[in-house]
Amino acid sequence: MIANSVDHRTIGTGTFRRTPGEALHGGPAGDHALRVEGLNVFYGKFQAVRDVDLAIAARKITALIGPSGCGKSTVLRCFNRMNDLIPTARVDGTVEFRGKNLYAPDVDAVEVRRRIGMVFQKPNPFPKSIYENVAWGARINGFRGNMDDLVEQSLRSAALWDDVRDKLSQSGYSLSGGQQQRLCIARAIATQPEIILMDEPCSALDPIATLKIEDLMRELSQRYTIVIVTHNMQQAARVSDYTAFFNMGEDRAGYLVEYGVTNEIFTNPKDRLTEDYITGRFG
Ligand SMILES: Nc1ncnc2c1ncn2[C@@H]1O[C@H](COP(=O)(O)OP(=O)(O)O)[C@@H](O)[C@H]1O
Ligand SMILES: [Mg+2]
Repeated sequence: MIANSVDHRTIGTGTFRRTPGEALHGGPAGDHALRVEGLNVFYGKFQAVRDVDLAIAARKITALIGPSGCGKSTVLRCFNRMNDLIPTARVDGTVEFRGKNLYAPDVDAVEVRRRIGMVFQKPNPFPKSIYENVAWGARINGFRGNMDDLVEQSLRSAALWDDVRDKLSQSGYSLSGGQQQRLCIARAIATQPEIILMDEPCSALDPIATLKIEDLMRELSQRYTIVIVTHNMQQAARVSDYTAFFNMGEDRAGYLVEYGVTNEIFTNPKDRLTEDYITGRFG
C-alpha cells in the first residue's frame, strides 16, 4: 500500500533524470505531487502523446487545456494508471509519486488509484444508496474505522452533506447532476487520496452547478492536489493555479506547448500557439 511513508513492498524505485523540486518545462519548482518525465503514450501504433515532461504542484490546481484530441485525457489517465484498463494503450516514461515510479513493475495499480482518485465527465454514481456510494470504496479498501463518520466527513468535504443528510438511503440517481458529481467527489475523497484527477467534471452541468464545483475545488485544494482537464477557458482561468497547454503535431501526437502560472499563461503567453488558442483562434 502507498502509505504516507512510502511502502517499498509495492512501490518500485525508478531512476529520474532530474532532481526533486526542480521545475519542469517552466512549471512550478518546489513541492511536487507528481513528476512526469519522458511520457509517450501509444494506442496500438498510433502515438497519442509525445515527450511530455511536467511536474504537478502539490495542493494546487493544475489545468490541462488544448484542442480536442490533443491527448489531455490520455495524459490524465497516466497519472493513476487508468490507461492500464485500455488493452491497446502503452505508456513509456516515468510518473513519479512520492519518489517512486508508478509504472515500475512491482507497483499495484489498484492501490495507485486509491491514492490518486478520478472524477469523470459524466457523473457516474453506482446504482446504490447515497451512503453506499461513499462507503463502497473505503469498504473494499478494508477501512475499519467508523463508517458513518467517514461518510459524513466525505459528504461534508464535497459540500453535499446538507443536501443529503436526511436521505442517505435514497438512490444516488435521485440527485441532480451537480449533486451526483459532488457525490462522485465524495466517493473519491472517502478512499483518502492525495491527488484528485478530474476530466471535464463540469461539462455535463449547468452554470450554477459548475460554479459550485469550482468553489468546491478551491476548497479541496487546501488539502488535495487537483488536476483538471477542461475545455472551458474561463474555468481554467478562474479555478487553476497552473495551466499546461497541449497541442497536436502534424502526426496528431499531443505535446506540451507551454506550462506555467495560470495568470501568466492567460495574460502573457510566451508561445504564439498558446496565445492563438486562448484567444479562440483555433481548437
Ligand atoms: N482508447 C483509445 N483507443 C485508441 N485511440 C484513442 C483512445 N483514446 C483516445 N484515443 C486517441 O488518442 C488521441 C488523444 O485522445 P484524448 O486523450 O481523448 O484527447 P483529449 O482528451 O485531449 O480530447 C486522439 O487521437 C484519440 O482519438
Ligand atoms: Mg478528453
